[in-house]
Amino acid sequence: MLRSALLNVMIKAAQKAGRTLKRDFGEVEHLQVSLKGPGNFVTAADRRAEEILCAELAAARPGYGFVGEEGGKRHGTDETHTWIVDPLDGTSNFLHGIPHFAISIGLEREGMIVAGLVYNPISDELFTAERGKGAFLNNQRLRVAARKRLGDAVVACGLPHMGRGDLELANREIAAVQPKVAGLRRFGAASLDLAWLAAGRFDAFWERQLSPWDIAGGLILVREAGGYVTDFEQGDTPWIGGDVVAGNETMHRELLRLLKTAARS
Ligand code: IPD
Ligand code: CA
Ligand code: CA
Repeated sequence: MLRSALLNVMIKAAQKAGRTLKRDFGEVEHLQVSLKGPGNFVTAADRRAEEILCAELAAARPGYGFVGEEGGKRHGTDETHTWIVDPLDGTSNFLHGIPHFAISIGLEREGMIVAGLVYNPISDELFTAERGKGAFLNNQRLRVAARKRLGDAVVACGLPHMGRGDLELANREIAAVQPKVAGLRRFGAASLDLAWLAAGRFDAFWERQLSPWDIAGGLILVREAGGYVTDFEQGDTPWIGGDVVAGNETMHRELLRLLKTAARS
């Protein structure tokens, strides 16, 4: 696979930040047993990763804007391009020593996501996509799963946690979906949920009230792998509103139908 200059910029930044996250994750595993726990250390690791990403991306594309979860915001001279970055998606997993987290980078150009990257530095799985050029896991082309029956599907979701989101609605949605599918999963890193969906590892995904940096990197992976990603009204800019439904054409439609029933009940 021949990578574009743009993807190379994103990959170099992600690999550099990934090296420090991987080192810090090793430390977290030790801190786990201390009474105080690794909370502050993880916050610092998160910020360190964002600083690296911000600096690397700025060095290669000085004019582009930058929005990062840890507060990094830069207005570029080039108003048409913005990096949307989550330096550590899956913080709870990271904090608990669960090796399922990622760096997520999306590039927005004039209201569209045109490139995306999701990188798990522990498994060294690098998911990348550019508009019109396909989605890849390392060098291998990705395709969403072809299953057509919900009854055969493994479906991933996100759940509201302490003090966040609409718990009652989430419970109704789960009650609507769980009995109709082969398996329900909650992995804890939305960017990897989208990347794994693009890789055909499961069949559909939904989550509400995400942030742009949870979605931007993974959204284009799914689309370039032949899948559908929208909000609950079928709008095609879900990273703006934060509600996401994804799958192949059939799974996306069927899941959306179940979720709408749940919302009305
Ligand atoms: C979180 C993860 C998680 C999702 C949460 C996000 P963070 O991001 O993507 O899967 O359910 O809503 O906030 O906080 O780990 O970067
Ligand atoms: Ca996140
Ligand atoms: Ca984060």
